[in-house]
Amino acid sequence: MALNWPFPRIVAHRGGGLLAPENTLAALRCGLAHGFHAVEFDVMLAHDGVPVLMHDEQLGRTVAGSAAVPTLTSAELMVMDAGSWFGPAFVGEPVPTYRQAFEFCRQHDIWMNVEIKPAAGFEQITGSVVAALTQEWLGRDQRPPLFSSFSFDALMAAKDVAPAIPRGLLVNKIPPDWEARLQALTAVALHTDHKTLTVKQAQAIKSAGYGLFCFTVNDAVRAHDLFRWGVDGFCTDRIDMIGVLFN
Ligand code: G3P
Ligand code: MG
Repeated sequence: MALNWPFPRIVAHRGGGLLAPENTLAALRCGLAHGFHAVEFDVMLAHDGVPVLMHDEQLGRTVAGSAAVPTLTSAELMVMDAGSWFGPAFVGEPVPTYRQAFEFCRQHDIWMNVEIKPAAGFEQITGSVVAALTQEWLGRDQRPPLFSSFSFDALMAAKDVAPAIPRGLLVNKIPPDWEARLQALTAVALHTDHKTLTVKQAQAIKSAGYGLFCFTVNDAVRAHDLFRWGVDGFCTDRIDMIGVLFN
């Protein structure tokens, strides 16, 4: 069951955590500069079917505007400024494509947790496209990324297209039927919000042979506790602090 397991214990959330604008190449550079060779980022499809790094379906928070991402082409998104909101040092930092992020990670030997983040109504196509492209780009000797998603349908589509690339199901709270869901997806891991996880749940998931990954852990004491519970890894925004303590 446990494909490509274990994976890195501490992963830079959205590229560079709190130190750089999320889901940009600047964030990936920042994570790397802090010694991170493991990164999580969010991938969504643009109107032309090209996957780009983006967390929110609607513009407005990290990129100015109010359009929905699926209504914009990748060419339109790639000239938008995803850095100004964060600070003057990042003015003009563009929205990257998944391909650009993938190449950066390959070049610098950075392991990827690719969160498939479909816009509503685009679950299956996003899973299929991201999986197909990832499979096409993966080098023979390259460690595959770990796909994760809150969307069961997106992960199922990824499984259909690229079954050998491992999958983890993201949940905000462990559902009662977690094991059945993981079995249906032939997933290797469950990813959950650490705030809702109990030690009993952690033990059950580990006893069943699955990886257990948490988001988003920014406190060192909590990180110690989670590792004691058997949690395999987590992503963090505090790449300046947590990485130094645990890597
Ligand atoms: O993959 C873990 C975490 O990134 C999930 O939450 O909202 O930051 O994508 P979010
Ligand atoms: Mg994410």
